[in-house]
Amino acid sequence: MVADGWQVGITARRRELLEELQKEAPEQYHVAVFDATASDALEHLDRLVQNMGGMDLLVISAGWGELNHDLDKGIELGTVGLNVQAFTHLVIWGYTHFARQGEGHLAAISSISALRGGRAAPAYNASKAYQSNYLEGLRQKAHKEGHAIAVTDVRPGFVKTPMAKGPGRFWEASAEKAARQIHGHLKRRSRVAYITKRWRLIAPLMGWMPRGLWARM
Ligand SMILES: NC(=O)c1ccc[n+]([C@@H]2O[C@H](COP(=O)([O-])OP(=O)(O)OC[C@H]3O[C@@H](n4cnc5c(N)ncnc54)[C@H](OP(=O)(O)O)[C@@H]3O)[C@@H](O)[C@H]2O)c1
Repeated sequence: MVADGWQVGITARRRELLEELQKEAPEQYHVAVFDATASDALEHLDRLVQNMGGMDLLVISAGWGELNHDLDKGIELGTVGLNVQAFTHLVIWGYTHFARQGEGHLAAISSISALRGGRAAPAYNASKAYQSNYLEGLRQKAHKEGHAIAVTDVRPGFVKTPMAKGPGRFWEASAEKAARQIHGHLKRRSRVAYITKRWRLIAPLMGWMPRGLWARM
């Protein structure tokens, strides 16, 4: 986005990583450090948007999950806290902003895991299903309300980041390749984007697989 000439606001909890990135294009990156689950998260975002002079595109990427074979409650509820509760605050904030200005582009990184329940991290799959379903609802809402708001649901398979855990991670893409493809979808304002492209083939198979067979996997 920076190479395309955009002003880009970047947010997370680790200031040093954000500032390292900012050094690559100090005129174009704008940093806000906050925890998305904190009660003042939206105040940080309001300030960031004010400093940047507006917002045309919001990408919600912050997410968390852990393999949780023991159904540790802390992991399950922590996942819901960020991927469901904080996500809901962020997405309402973004939609309301764009509805007020009559146009905009709202994108979020859900996951291929949104398509089915998963034994390894039940809250993670469920939270991603929530995100995908929520985005679909907002897309319909924008259309019905006559707002020119594009909604992009980015559904990656495995991407090599600290988030990807466990054995059997097939077709794992580098973060760079995933980012390149996500960038392309954002430019085209795709409704649903599978990352990498080949996951588009797996998605319908996941959907069609009979429940009895899925339960044994
Ligand atoms: N990697 C995969 O295989 C994969 C597959 C499908 C979907 N996804 C989704 O892709 C998204 C990005 O994940 P990733 O793979 O890039 O993992 P990552 O490298 O672990 O990145 C997660 C990002 O979210 C930020 N974050 C986490 N908790 C936060 C919080 N409470 N408040 C604010 N920021 C927070 C982290 O920064 P700080 O720690 O500095 O806050 C980090 O920048 C996630 O939603 C994930 O579910 C990933």
